[in-house]
Amino acid sequence: MPVSKATSIANSNIAAIKYWGNRDHTLRLPVTGSLSMNLDGLPTRTTVAFDPSLTADVVVLGGDIQSPESSKRVSDHLDRVRARAGIKTFARVDSQNNFPAGTGIASSASGFAALTLAACTAAGLALSERDLSILARQGSGSASRSIPTGFVEWQMGANSDGSDSFAFSIAAPDHWALADCIAIVSHTHKEVGSTGGHALAHTSPLQPARIDDTPRRLHACREALLARNFPAFAEIVEEDSTIMHAIMMTSRPPLYYWLPPTLAIMEAVRKWRAEGLPACFTIDAGPNVHVITFAEHMAEVSNRLRAISGVQNVLTARPGGGATLIHE
Ligand code: PMV
Repeated sequence: MPVSKATSIANSNIAAIKYWGNRDHTLRLPVTGSLSMNLDGLPTRTTVAFDPSLTADVVVLGGDIQSPESSKRVSDHLDRVRARAGIKTFARVDSQNNFPAGTGIASSASGFAALTLAACTAAGLALSERDLSILARQGSGSASRSIPTGFVEWQMGANSDGSDSFAFSIAAPDHWALADCIAIVSHTHKEVGSTGGHALAHTSPLQPARIDDTPRRLHACREALLARNFPAFAEIVEEDSTIMHAIMMTSRPPLYYWLPPTLAIMEAVRKWRAEGLPACFTIDAGPNVHVITFAEHMAEVSNRLRAISGVQNVLTARPGGGATLIHE
């Protein structure tokens, strides 16, 4: 086989209804559905070249060659693609995040979505969006949601093989002129990342209640989003984020991701909303705060966030498209 190469680009996404906890860790099958918005302008661009002259996979992230240990998760994902394509050839993976350096934002969602599309294409596989989402999910759960466009729902599915656990678009990026203002309060790498966190979720005595209540939150969020009802959207988004953090804080051992500026932002955002500025917060597995607002208020919200003590930087993103191939 000659060298076979493809490049793809995928956006990161922010969940309005979160994914936290797996029923199958190997297949990354979640215990709940989740719902998110792709973030235009915060993408990963990845080139995969299957090369018969290689004796092992070579993984280059942001220009740095990775050790075999830090390449393992990528190599394991390439193994899934190779198994499916019936090939044994090793690959060179070159991946670049287009996030400003040193912001503490590292996205496995955009990374594994871009890797999945580039690797499948380079391996000669033409998969449906659904099958790409299923495959991306096995690299990183949230990556399943960076395959389809715009506003996306990941259905948890019921099958033990994961064949019905995939994400699909529920609205195009231009459905709602929202914006995400991401307040960076820490650049340091988190001690327990999401893979470790998912494995602890079931140790919280609150997790069964969170799981039982998720269909209600998913429904409320989906309805608010489709009806462009910001007040309803804001309430359910904040509630869902805080419920996930309650699970984190009550896991054994507990995970505390919030820092003092995280709480200061949460308090400020709720005050702004009470005063009439449409904005709500949501927080992933880290201390940085995503503040969702309307595009027309993006500059105002960013300025207000920058004025809060402890906020080091604010990144902004609009609703984005799905993973796409780049024709070079
Ligand atoms: O895909 P992972 O394993 O990085 O998990 C993502 C977990 C959260 O970002 C905290 C929530 C979510 O749904 O994106």
